Amino acid sequence: GKTIVVTGVSSGIGSDTARLLRQQGARVIGLDRNDPMLTLDGFVKADLSEQAAIDAALRQLPERVDGLANIAGVPGTAPVDLVARVNFLGLRHLTQKLAERMPEGGSIVNVSSILGFEWPARVDLHKALAETPSFEAGLAWLARHPVPQASCYQYFKEALIVWTLTQSQRQFLARGVRMNCVAPGPVFTPILGDFVQMLGQERVQADAHRMKRPAFSDEVAPAIAFLLGDDARWVSGINLPVDGGLASTYI
Ligand code: NAI
Repeated sequence: GKTIVVTGVSSGIGSDTARLLRQQGARVIGLDRNDPMLTLDGFVKADLSEQAAIDAALRQLPERVDGLANIAGVPGTAPVDLVARVNFLGLRHLTQKLAERMPEGGSIVNVSSILGFEWPARVDLHKALAETPSFEAGLAWLARHPVPQASCYQYFKEALIVWTLTQSQRQFLARGVRMNCVAPGPVFTPILGDFVQMLGQERVQADAHRMKRPAFSDEVAPAIAFLLGDDARWVSGINLPVDGGLASTYI
């Protein structure tokens, strides 16, 4: 079976993804700042907002890894600096290091959001951030290009999408590793309440009205598992909405 690292494994979408991957026969190593509530084949406790903590975690992860699901994330009610670190800079650092341990056929899936769909409006900024060569260089770039608290969640999901779409072909595909995003709409997890705070009750209620209900996290996990697996071997550099059709109702 394959060895797959899953971040954010201790809650919500990460937890359901880990469970599904194990049912499918994978060996799942979890990463989270909190202890997991399910059985895994390995677990490393790490704060993915700190480069040093990520480097320490990397020393505990296997020498060979077939897949990586970057699911850990914080909502936009967290401070901008933390959102930048967890949702983009730390994710990117972990991915670049783990990709070096992947054989041909490796696969990376990043969880973005339908809240990142406005990336074309800021694509030049996101491309410039994507080009920064390291975690520290990314922080320095952000000090020169500050991101407002109110839209920081959207900003770093957009940045994640642009990095995935551009770097999947440039850095990763060259060595036979695919990278894609899954973009959920609202999902019943502990951070759903933070989105009400971020977006306002009105918007969240309007979305809920359109879709009847948010997704359950086990309705998002299968899309992540598909993109990680060999059945998706010809799929690379996409951002797949898994939102019950919600994003298309905005048109
Ligand atoms: P959740 O809050 O249930 O799970 C997030 C997990 O990430 C938790 O286990 C948490 O401990 C971990 N985490 C957060 N910061 C960390 C850090 N610094 N170091 C290590 N682990 C850390 O949230 P959910 O909903 O499962 O979110 C998963 C992903 O899906 C996130 O990237 C989120 O932005 C994204 N998403 C969620 C939506 C929703 O409506 N729930 C909608 C669209 C995207």
